[in-house]
Amino acid sequence: MQKIKLHDKVFRYFIPNERLEEAIDRVAAKINDDYRDSGTVPILLCVLNGSILFTAELMKRLEFDVDLMSIKLSSYVGTSSTGDVRTEMGLTGDVTGKEVIIVEDIVDTGRTIENLVNILQARRASKVKVCTMLLKPEMYKKDVKLDYVAMEIPDDFIVGFGLDYDGLGRNYKDIYILDNE
Ligand code: IMP
Ligand code: MG
Repeated sequence: MQKIKLHDKVFRYFIPNERLEEAIDRVAAKINDDYRDSGTVPILLCVLNGSILFTAELMKRLEFDVDLMSIKLSSYVGTSSTGDVRTEMGLTGDVTGKEVIIVEDIVDTGRTIENLVNILQARRASKVKVCTMLLKPEMYKKDVKLDYVAMEIPDDFIVGFGLDYDGLGRNYKDIYILDNE
């Protein structure tokens, strides 16, 4: 499908599923190299709802034991960040003394990731790493280290592969970009 309509906006085809899967293969290989022989069982922290598909695809490729947890945060209304990160559902487990790999769909301004790292440090996680499927490098101004980035994209609003526009668009397997024409 070349174009899709969600609510009042039209989005055009942007990143094919095959390219996303290849990028996930590469990032999973790096994580496997870092953890395969480490003897640690890290927590994979899925940031709901956007990361559901990415977390599932990433997990299938991991060759070491992980413990899966979730948290639900939100900051976007429509196509822009409100600047205010809300915890809509708290951590589903105890991270005390554990190593955590945050699994995010996209890092934009970095406010969400910075907030989440603070939450995990306050809960006494022993180590926090960040893995994101997408990064908008022009927008990211925070100091939090992004350990694993699958793909970089320009500063435009996108949907698909878990990402939504006001709740819609998460189920598309490819990524679509806001069509301004
Ligand atoms: P940040 O806090 O500005 O880094 O934004 C991160 C969060 O905003 C992500 O977890 C997404 O839920 C959402 N977000 C950022 N950019 C987009 C986008 O282009 N499409 C859909 N959601 C986005
Ligand atoms: Mg998200």
